[in-house]
Amino acid sequence: MKKHWLVGNWKMHGNLKANAELFNAIRSGTGELAPEVDMVLCPAFPYLAQMQGLVEGTGIQIGAQNASDHLRGAYTGETSPLMLKELGCGFVIIGHSERRSYQGENDGLMGRKALAAIDAGLIPILCVGETAEERDAGRTHEVLGRQLDAAFGYIRTAHDNIIVAYEPRWAIGTGIAATPEIVQAEHAFLRARIGQRDAEFAKRLTILYGGSVKASNAASLLSMPDVDGGLIGSAALNASEFVAIYKALVEVTKTRLAKGA
Ligand code: 13P
Repeated sequence: MKKHWLVGNWKMHGNLKANAELFNAIRSGTGELAPEVDMVLCPAFPYLAQMQGLVEGTGIQIGAQNASDHLRGAYTGETSPLMLKELGCGFVIIGHSERRSYQGENDGLMGRKALAAIDAGLIPILCVGETAEERDAGRTHEVLGRQLDAAFGYIRTAHDNIIVAYEPRWAIGTGIAATPEIVQAEHAFLRARIGQRDAEFAKRLTILYGGSVKASNAASLLSMPDVDGGLIGSAALNASEFVAIYKALVEVTKTRLAKGA
């Protein structure tokens, strides 16, 4: 699996017409994808089939924003990761803070969902992040460690493709991103924590940053050494912003790979 990714989380936005326009504008802005960086777009569930058609032949991949922790059964209103796989998804966002806040999802559920996603052949994008209160109380590492350990208690490191996303809850949708220094420190913490389980896996693990990334701050955030890409919300709904972030990531990745890092 490639290490550097740009993921657009479209959240509960869009409609058939707007999605096609946004996708076409992104596509014409990026042209052929650079070999160094891959892109995943995550529309709302009803538009996955539309997106499957749009991305065909472009190299852009699609992901879902959530999935059940079960593969099948009497779970009204839920969506199996097997169904997502059949619709062309390669990825699924798991444990997003908005689901923790509004749907009451917890660490254990995140682990079970990640396991079901892997069983279905999807790559889970595991979101972890602290609240402002937790950071202010000096509990960031306790919280991040607990969230990671809960997920990795269910999944193996050695064989599975997994992406981790650091999304501090206070930086999501606020317009105020974490500083590059904070992002680097927390990514290094997450990598080291996983390294306690499996050092080789930790080295090749993709860790994305998400939280108010935009064109103007992308280069400084994404060039931090333990940052392997971005998980973008609001700016993913604006083609020129998203394309600029993609280009910034391609540039920092090329520089990093040229240095052999
Ligand atoms: P914003 O980029 O709007 O802060 O959202 C980030 C996010 O939640 C991505 O999953």
